[in-house]
Amino acid sequence: MTRAHTFDVIVVGAGGAGMMAARYAAQHPGVSVAVISKLYPTRSHTGAAQGGVGAALGNVSEDHPEWHAFDTIKGGDYLTDQDVADVFAREVIEAVYELEHMGLPFSRTPEGKIAQRKFGGHTREFGKSAVERACYAADRTGHMILQTLYQQSIKDRVNFFNEFHVLDLILEDGECRGVVAYELATGQLHTFHAKATIIASGGNGRMFKVTSNAHALTGDLMSIAYRRGLPIEDPEFYQFHPTGLYKLGVLLTEGARGEGGILRNAEGERFMERYAPTIKDLAPRDMVSRAMYLEIREGRGCGPDKDYIHLDLTHIDAAIIEERLPDITEFARIYLGVDPIKELVPIQPTAHYAMGGIPTTITTEVISDGQDTIVRGLYAAGEVSCASLHGANRLGTNSLGDLIVFGRRAGIEAAKYAAGAEFGPLPDDVQDRARELVETTRNGPRREKVAHLRRELQETMQDYASVFRTDEFLSKQAGIVADIKERAKGIGVEDQGQQFNTELLEAIELGFLIDNAEQLVHAALNRTESRGAHSREDFKERDDAEWLKHTLVYKDGDGVRIDYKPVTLGLYEPKPRTY
Ligand code: FUM
Repeated sequence: MTRAHTFDVIVVGAGGAGMMAARYAAQHPGVSVAVISKLYPTRSHTGAAQGGVGAALGNVSEDHPEWHAFDTIKGGDYLTDQDVADVFAREVIEAVYELEHMGLPFSRTPEGKIAQRKFGGHTREFGKSAVERACYAADRTGHMILQTLYQQSIKDRVNFFNEFHVLDLILEDGECRGVVAYELATGQLHTFHAKATIIASGGNGRMFKVTSNAHALTGDLMSIAYRRGLPIEDPEFYQFHPTGLYKLGVLLTEGARGEGGILRNAEGERFMERYAPTIKDLAPRDMVSRAMYLEIREGRGCGPDKDYIHLDLTHIDAAIIEERLPDITEFARIYLGVDPIKELVPIQPTAHYAMGGIPTTITTEVISDGQDTIVRGLYAAGEVSCASLHGANRLGTNSLGDLIVFGRRAGIEAAKYAAGAEFGPLPDDVQDRARELVETTRNGPRREKVAHLRRELQETMQDYASVFRTDEFLSKQAGIVADIKERAKGIGVEDQGQQFNTELLEAIELGFLIDNAEQLVHAALNRTESRGAHSREDFKERDDAEWLKHTLVYKDGDGVRIDYKPVTLGLYEPKPRTY
């Protein structure tokens, strides 16, 4: 197999955003497209998104894109760029119908329309009551999106390079000219020369101990971009989903509460009535996760250690649970031995989603500073990116919406750019950085174990940088991350083979995770206010006068440098958030 490849457009990542981008790029006449993926495409993490994709179709009750945009902005605690929310809420309607026409098997209303259910933070008439906005395929919506898009991408003759790990971006003179990737099967490096590169490689939840994220979610491209001098926007805003299976973190969809599920403390109390009197259990995730931790802290947690909360579905008709929530019902039965039809399910908040990421314009071009300077030929979409849609807290279902809206935008924009551009020359040493990374990792001194350092990172991130934060704990964690980074110079690998050397890749991924933790902790330490998912116990209030701005974190030697970018406001003045 050749190790030098040339395509007009390459896409890194085969989740929902990557395949949406690839398919739209491939429809541009004469444009060749390849997808490079760590995994077989249908194993991508989009498949773990369960409950639905929010779009104001109005199939079950009246709805409007203006209401959806408002909910997204308010849910994001006003850090959302309002022009982005506006475009998103309108385009997601069209994108959902496109998926339907591609063959996605949505659940249906009795009249045959796409079924919709309630989800956290989605309301009618600007906050009056919960609205049915999530379009779903039972609790397998992300899985169905992946299957549908993969079939369509094959039909559109997209080329796939599966189990290839991207290790470097080729950035020359402010322009991206492709990537260098490591082939898992052979241990060889490949150069992918492109006119346009789309990064759609997903999130970084594996830096925490309890997470809904799959093992592959190690923030690779957020680290590679950072090492290459690009900023990461708003990494301090990290979402904990309220309903992860106790101790395991496996996701139980918010759709369960959309179908009427209730959160209860050890006293059996529906405590969300106290925290969000209007929409209760369907408040946004940041508020619900905080409320759960407060209940536990005040001694009302469940179980012998009083350290979890119950999800109660026992009052819901068993037939509805089996039909609309089949997967999560099985997860609870298999992993905890609990039957949600008859029993309360032990749950705890689980690290779920990065609101921040590689900054982009509204048309998905990657930018390198707070003045929107564009990196030519480089685009990003999905969780790895930050178009400033989710602000300080993403609403449930807006991740799948983000994938299809901004994945499509990225594919169209990148193909248009590539059609009018020439291939930029590659430097002679194009593979040197990736080779050095592989060789220094392979031949390291083996004083330290990758698994030990990774566990220490995950446990301390969970303890000191998760739902509640303080200067004391974040400073401590900044020191721990710096120490782990230093000790990681002492790792190495036992397996010196070339084929399927997963030990080598896990060692490289540890470095990526450390960079992601460094970005998050320093940005969180720097932001001396509470907003959305960033909750500082020592700065409890939101401070719009000082902090209504996006963070940009740059790598600066062994430390970080922080800069800012303005928030785009619009119709909605920032107000206190009540639900
Ligand atoms: O709860 C869920 O089904 C997750 C959806 C999401 O993160 O948007």
